[in-house]
Amino acid sequence: MCGITGFTGKQPALPFLLQGLSKLEYRGYDSAGVTLVNSKKLTTWKTKGRLSELEKLLEKELPQSCGIGHTRWATHGVPSNMNAHPHMNEEGTISVVHNGIVENYTTLKEELIQVGYHFHSDTDSEVIVQLLDFYYKKKPVMKEALQKTIRHLEGSYALCITTIFEPNTIYVAKKESPMVLGRSKEGTFCASDAPALLAYTKEILPLQDGETAILNKDGLEVFDSKGRPIEPRYITFPYDIQSAQKGGYDSYMLKEIHEQPSAIRETLRGRFRGNQIILPKIEELEIDWNSIYNTVFIACGTAYHACIYANTIYQRYTGKMSYVMPASEFRYCDPAVDEHTLCIFVSQSGETADTLAALKLARAKGCVTVSVVNVLGSSIARQSDAVLYTAAGPEIAVASTKAYTTQLVLLHVLILKLAQLYGIRVKGIGKLIKDLKRLPELVEETLANDKTVKKYAGMLKDEHDAYFIGRQLDYPSALEGALKLKEVSYVHADAYYAGELKHGPIALIEKNTVVIALATQPEIASKTISNIKETVARGARVILITDQDMEAKEFKYVIRIPDMEPQLRVIPVAVLTQLIAYYAAKEKGCDIDKPRNLAKSVTVE
Ligand code: G6P
Repeated sequence: MCGITGFTGKQPALPFLLQGLSKLEYRGYDSAGVTLVNSKKLTTWKTKGRLSELEKLLEKELPQSCGIGHTRWATHGVPSNMNAHPHMNEEGTISVVHNGIVENYTTLKEELIQVGYHFHSDTDSEVIVQLLDFYYKKKPVMKEALQKTIRHLEGSYALCITTIFEPNTIYVAKKESPMVLGRSKEGTFCASDAPALLAYTKEILPLQDGETAILNKDGLEVFDSKGRPIEPRYITFPYDIQSAQKGGYDSYMLKEIHEQPSAIRETLRGRFRGNQIILPKIEELEIDWNSIYNTVFIACGTAYHACIYANTIYQRYTGKMSYVMPASEFRYCDPAVDEHTLCIFVSQSGETADTLAALKLARAKGCVTVSVVNVLGSSIARQSDAVLYTAAGPEIAVASTKAYTTQLVLLHVLILKLAQLYGIRVKGIGKLIKDLKRLPELVEETLANDKTVKKYAGMLKDEHDAYFIGRQLDYPSALEGALKLKEVSYVHADAYYAGELKHGPIALIEKNTVVIALATQPEIASKTISNIKETVARGARVILITDQDMEAKEFKYVIRIPDMEPQLRVIPVAVLTQLIAYYAAKEKGCDIDKPRNLAKSVTVE
């Protein structure tokens, strides 16, 4: 990941490649590179860092009229010059840029090494160019080599390929990672996202999964998954560059809310074999798992709420005691932890100062440290005994959305794995794994409530306060819902265990107070409903988020989540409370992506 551009035409390719990549910069990246081709050779420049660093390496005037470019957001292998794209074969005759994740890259790599291939990077992407080389050497027809290569790739890819053998041609392939094509009188283009093309053309051809394309300076051809030619289907792109960067949404927050199905899908990729959980980094830890007596979940902000959820799930599944603590407290509380303690750190950025300090303390005390992080190669990732990566991709809005739900999902998978390592059988694991795999679709279904949420969130516009209540697994959702509302709409919001209302907070409930009530946990639902009715009796306007089965005739504002295992309902609930916060903020005209006083990454104490 994260940005791809390609051009072949009648003028120098470099200006398009660089301007296209700059239009994709908003997606975040850690390294950049280009390959330019002429009839004699491919030349590649690549570097860790910003596009401006790449530009420093390039000569001013480069005449080559065919080339590919890439900005990388690291997923396999830390940000470095070596891991930056494009990747080349040994002879430097084929060059590839790739977005996505090749799930089976270790197997492919081993097979290629056995037949004499050498690898120079830690990326999953490098196997693609070596595989292409392998098939091209067997039969020098690039279109066929590409078809054979992609047949072996498990996972997702958007690929762009140049080769010295056809110096004016670019080969393109796509599966579950976006790729768009375009043409103008200057030439033919491809990019991983439309904003890169919009300065040149509004006629865009979005490539579909399984399709490939061949770009020449005079036009392009598209092929179906069997390699048969198909009619190119252009659309007139309806957005300008700025709104296209936000995927047509009016803010990054809303875009990222809608990216959750794919972020969850990517995070779950390759984690299951039947009912077995595949987490090699955890398996590789040389630990006597039965010597672990304590587990502590540690994080800040939204990630801390993911930890509260994980803490409950851990105790349920393993029957062992665990604790949860904000990193800012853990680091100063002289915790009673030792080599029998497993400390699990959660962080989107991997750089939060308090979380990093807590990690260092845990290491100094001899604990086993595992982190769940979104940014590859970040400080927390590097300093943990084992790291698991969420695949949320870059999150730009300050308020965390897709990073949070991917943390919930990955923590769930990690805890299932720990139970297996402890030799504990989790009841109903088959159904749980089935529903984990269905989550992308279930989140899509949840997002379809958008209009209803918008209508209900409107009631927060003139409110100073709101209350989120829930019990058991609905409690971390209440905390996160309240945090999200505060962060982006500045409506003061508090979260309570619904059963605790009567011990104080109910004094604040009066006519028209907005209460967002979460009742998705069947074992406690009837109790929660009684608690909610106590607020209705005092005049509260209740927005009830509940499951499909709950009897809710007495409530006016009800949103139902799709049917699924109760332990996973926290995910659609998060999506709904994110939408509530977003629409409340929009009604109030707030700067949704950059709330006042907040920072995306808090690297100071
Ligand atoms: C900041 C962000 C929050 C985030 C928290 C922890 O406060 O605004 O959205 O949850 O830091 O960040 P981390 O990167 O460690 O998850």
